[in-house]
This record gives sequence, structure tokens and C-alpha cells, in this order.
Amino acid sequence: MAAKKESPYACHIFVCVNDRHGQRKSCADGNNPAIRKRLKEEVVNRGWRPQVRVSQCGCMGLCADGPNVILYPQKIWFSDVSSEDVTTILSAVDGILKSISTN
Ligand code: FES
Repeated sequence: MAAKKESPYACHIFVCVNDRHGQRKSCADGNNPAIRKRLKEEVVNRGWRPQVRVSQCGCMGLCADGPNVILYPQKIWFSDVSSEDVTTILSAVDGILKSISTN
């Protein structure tokens, strides 16, 4: 039987990198692999590990809105993400971490 437990992360950033190779719109069309790499670097540089983790994931079902990046357990979705949005995503994570530290 599976062991059920709480996530060890205060914020888990999922970056959809699903690639349909042009057959249909997919998150990889929007350079999400590069965005994932940059988010990972920033999380390390800001000393957010191990509280924050960046993971690539497959399709989350809202492909038409993509590229998608989501924050869990906060249930925050960033859609139509481009490289310019990395700062906004990091600001959201920073706010989450600050709100946790003040509680
Ligand atoms: S391809 Fe990213 S949500 Fe479907």
C-alpha cells in the first residue's frame, strides 16, 4: 500500500515541458524547457532549496493556455508564460515563502 504523507516542499514549481512536435499546441512550443532551467538556477541562487523544488512535468490539460507553470500546493497557475515572466513567478514564490515564515 502506498505511503501517504505531506509534501516536503513549501512550494513545488511544476513546469510543463510536454512537446507535441508541432502536431498540436504544447508547452514546449513556448521555450518552457529553458524557463525551467532558469527557474532551477534562481531557486538555487536564492537559497530556497530544499523548501522549493522545480520539476518538469507532462501535460496538465490546459495546453491551449500554455506554456503553463504551476505552483503547488498554492494552486497558482501561470499561463502563456514567456521568459519575461520568470521574474513574476519568482516574486510569487518569494511571497509564498514570506507568508509561511510569518505564520
Ligand atoms: S502541453 Fe502543457 S498543459 Fe498540455
